[in-house]
Amino acid sequence: MKKISLRFGGIVALDGPSFEIAPGEICGLIGPNGAGKTTLFNCVSGLYRPDAGSIMLGETDILALRPDQVAGAGIARTFQNLGLLPTQTVLDNVIAGASHRARTGMMAAALGLPSVAREERRERERARAVLDRLGLSGYESHLASGLPLGTLKRVELARALMLEPRLLMLDEPANGLIHEEVEELGALVRELRRELGFSVLLVEHHMGMVMSVCDHLVVLNLGVKIADGPPEQVRRDGAVVEAYLGGS
Ligand SMILES: Nc1ncnc2c1ncn2[C@@H]1O[C@H](COP(=O)(O)OP(=O)(O)OP(=O)(O)O)[C@@H](O)[C@H]1O
Ligand SMILES: [Mg+2]
Repeated sequence: MKKISLRFGGIVALDGPSFEIAPGEICGLIGPNGAGKTTLFNCVSGLYRPDAGSIMLGETDILALRPDQVAGAGIARTFQNLGLLPTQTVLDNVIAGASHRARTGMMAAALGLPSVAREERRERERARAVLDRLGLSGYESHLASGLPLGTLKRVELARALMLEPRLLMLDEPANGLIHEEVEELGALVRELRRELGFSVLLVEHHMGMVMSVCDHLVVLNLGVKIADGPPEQVRRDGAVVEAYLGGS
């Protein structure tokens, strides 16, 4: 992405950051509260329209797409405050992750064509396989409400995987998890990346996870990119240390 900028009234949430994520790489996006990390996710997923700049996925101009088309292009995300439907079962929440596909068949669905039932069965099978891979088989028919946060975070990850993403964006996946769960999650993200080959953009305040999981770090502060490089180098960067110590 290049020179992304976005203001909300007088607040400059993003002030021109540019960076690239290599195929198959886990890129950490870090910075103090209010740095613009979630805003940047919202720009990539088509929820916000930047005032200027460009975002490309390979040859595809992401800013020309609607949010469902961005998902269709292979960009999946999880939300800082969980985006699950509490009154739906875990299985239905995960199936909903692929709903951009079903949309193309809305007319067929209205007509009750057999192809629809076939597609539903296929999506159900895929969702079961993803839940199984994430160790969540036992939760299929549970309602999302009432499950522990660590489980819900994995359900949200399962929903994102239904898109078979090229880029998986995770917004604070470790927030609220206990130490052991954070380590498991970090290992899982690396395993899934190896198995499925996607790139990851990881927003996370948990520095232990960031340092152990990421291949590359980008640091934002007040909408400006202040560092970009290998984790070890970024960690020693004076501007980064200053932003963290000075900010909180
Ligand atoms: N919809 C909005 N309307 C107005 N201001 C917004 C909106 N979304 C974000 N902002 C502002 O933009 C700035 C960046 O916010 P953002 O949520 O992107 O930060 P963040 O880096 O994700 O922070 P955190 O680590 O706390 O999640 C903040 O000053 C925030 O108040
Ligand atoms: Mg945020």
